[in-house]
Amino acid sequence: MNILLVGSGGREHALAWKISQSPLTRRLFVAPGNAGTSKLAENLSVKVDDFQGLAAICKDKLIDLLVVGPEAPLVNGLRDFLEKDNDLRNLLIVGPGMKGAQLEGSKDFSKQFMQRHKIPTAGAKTFSSDQVKEGIRFLITQRMPVVLKADGLAAGKGVVICQSLEESEETLRSMLAGKFGEASSRVLIEEFLTGIELSVFVLTDGSDYVLLPEAKDYKRVGEGDTGLNTGGMGAVSPVNFATTAFMSKVEERIIKPTIKGLKEEKIDYRGFIFFGLINVNGDPYVIEYNARMGDPETEAVMTRIESDLVEVLAACASGHLKGKVLATTKEHAITVVMVAAGYPGDYQKGHPISGLDAQHDAIAFHAGTKLQDSQIVTDGGRVLAITGRGKDIDGARQMAYKAVSGISWTGSYFRRDIGLDLQRLTKR
Ligand code: AMP
Ligand code: GLY
Repeated sequence: MNILLVGSGGREHALAWKISQSPLTRRLFVAPGNAGTSKLAENLSVKVDDFQGLAAICKDKLIDLLVVGPEAPLVNGLRDFLEKDNDLRNLLIVGPGMKGAQLEGSKDFSKQFMQRHKIPTAGAKTFSSDQVKEGIRFLITQRMPVVLKADGLAAGKGVVICQSLEESEETLRSMLAGKFGEASSRVLIEEFLTGIELSVFVLTDGSDYVLLPEAKDYKRVGEGDTGLNTGGMGAVSPVNFATTAFMSKVEERIIKPTIKGLKEEKIDYRGFIFFGLINVNGDPYVIEYNARMGDPETEAVMTRIESDLVEVLAACASGHLKGKVLATTKEHAITVVMVAAGYPGDYQKGHPISGLDAQHDAIAFHAGTKLQDSQIVTDGGRVLAITGRGKDIDGARQMAYKAVSGISWTGSYFRRDIGLDLQRLTKR
């Protein structure tokens, strides 16, 4: 098959790495890709929001299968756009249409969806910009801390956890006044849940699904989960508190009702669903849905899949997932994200990266890099996602950090504690 992968981050490098290993892959293109994907595939300099440009690639390169990495093109209707094109009638697409992507694109939609289908989630109420007073009256009745969420996509920044009534009132006012632009013209006021989070992924064709390895990500920039929220500073898979009993609750209470709900609502969903879950005293609750894989979770998860990924991606897109399973290794994987100084705030780009050719057993996935005058330079906040593997967390950590210690650029930074919390849980 000729395959086009859309995106340019560490998630896409990891997907390209796995897709390129399949005997079913004839040619692999990535739009726009990064310096890492250029080693495994042909990068094409078309942006993820250039729907015309992506359609042209599908025609010129005789693409059979399109895999969409990030959420924005899905929420903005890339699938719907391509499906309208008569010349692309046979194109297989992994990624939901605009309607299905609302699971991620609108937190109000996803909350109501969960409520309609009795899927466990935190209680919440939505207020729009003409309902500031009602929102504040509601806040007064809430226990603190309370969670305020912008309804729309806000580049991972639209969630604020408020510790006091004053803070929550002020945050509500500023969000409804446009703190996150159009995304916060509606705001959910949500009950705060206490527990440990994990990410669960499925690939569904709208009727059946395959489960991918679960993962835990590390969102805060500082060690010990301190400091600002980021896109993700590391990931671990498997997650030791995701026992068989817990995962069977996840499947029965969350995954199956979600897929059944989509079907009942006549939403033809073909693609990944990422369940952002929280384990509250042994019971799973949904914190959020995403219409795509996680980043950096994918960089750990892909290394644990033994089956041919292209076979299941094609089965997903063509509606033939029934009976498919993904074989996974028992090995542990740990991804350490190396970021630019200043991230998630302002940071510089264009610094040459040294040590990328050093000998190590880890896999260096590129997240924000580019080739400049035959030198690989930094080109984003999250620059590299280094994945180590081992028979336990300790072994995987050693492999990842050994590689990380040999790579650097001006101002490079990483967390040293990825996986340590789970290692402690194992030892208890
Ligand atoms: P989201 O963008 O929805 O993933 O939210 C960002 C982060 O906010 C999550 O990963 C959680 O750590 C936290 N969060 C969101 N909703 C809740 C909630 N209801 N209770 C506790 N923490 C939450
Ligand atoms: N790592 C979390 C996300 O991809 O949203």
